[in-house]
Amino acid sequence: MATTETVTSEPASRMTLRRPPFAFSRDKALHWNAGKPEFSQIVNAASLAMPYLEPYLIKTMREARPLITDAQLVRDLDLYCGQESAHYRQHRKFNDELKALRPEIIDTLEAALAADYARLARDRSLTFNLAYAEGFESMALAIGHMLIEEREFLFGGAESAVASLVLWHFVEEIEHKNVTFDVFKHISGSYLWRITGLFYATGHIMWRTRRGYHALLKADGLWRNLRSRLALAHVLFRIFKSLTPKFLRILHPAYHPSQVADPEWVSAWAAIYEASDTAAARLDTHRLREALPVALPA
Ligand SMILES: [Fe+2]
Ligand SMILES: [Fe+2]
Repeated sequence: MATTETVTSEPASRMTLRRPPFAFSRDKALHWNAGKPEFSQIVNAASLAMPYLEPYLIKTMREARPLITDAQLVRDLDLYCGQESAHYRQHRKFNDELKALRPEIIDTLEAALAADYARLARDRSLTFNLAYAEGFESMALAIGHMLIEEREFLFGGAESAVASLVLWHFVEEIEHKNVTFDVFKHISGSYLWRITGLFYATGHIMWRTRRGYHALLKADGLWRNLRSRLALAHVLFRIFKSLTPKFLRILHPAYHPSQVADPEWVSAWAAIYEASDTAAARLDTHRLREALPVALPA
């Protein structure tokens, strides 16, 4: 997989606004990967954050917009906000299915997320919020590469709509990888702030996700199940083994996300969407081992 740090100058105009027609099914919403309920609940917990985190990112970027003097960067910022807005709307749809199955747990988790992001937006400086946004986006780029590298292990045989949702989301995270970095750089740009934002955003989202999957797995009766805990440890080990080197390169003072070459899988996914938005929303999870994505037959 192409993750080498070659410099690529990809114009952000590659960003495309898409609305894949995902068809979520309620009875498979919790354990959408039946073979990996632990990973299902990690993703579900992370999904709960999106309708709070992504509007906060958009709000932060819109606050920065009048301060930007580069017209291309303003266009990129608008496309970025368009992509993030599509993400949280689709996650909201999926999260509603989760909420129908675990209403009390989801209400509690959502209330905490809503309070966190309202507090950040209200009490923190624009510099802090831009650093958070850039920290989150650098991690999202690393997570996108990890998910594509580990796609067969993580999504193999899973229900197609949720796997396709997550892979679509992270294809677009890879597409808009440069925008928050360039906006942050344009407006404040200090290394110390960038690293503060990276650690704060990473720590915050991981803490909230951990609380989420803990509550969800407890409700499933899996948290005290030894086999399930070992499976959870195995999934987390695979995830962090892939993520750690990608996280470490972000720490380099000369890091820029454009140095991270995009996986070939991403452009192949974009071509599938170009041909059929329905196909991109229905990936064949039994064929993820293949080098390029394949959709389920119509
Ligand atoms: Fe997103
Ligand atoms: Fe993003």
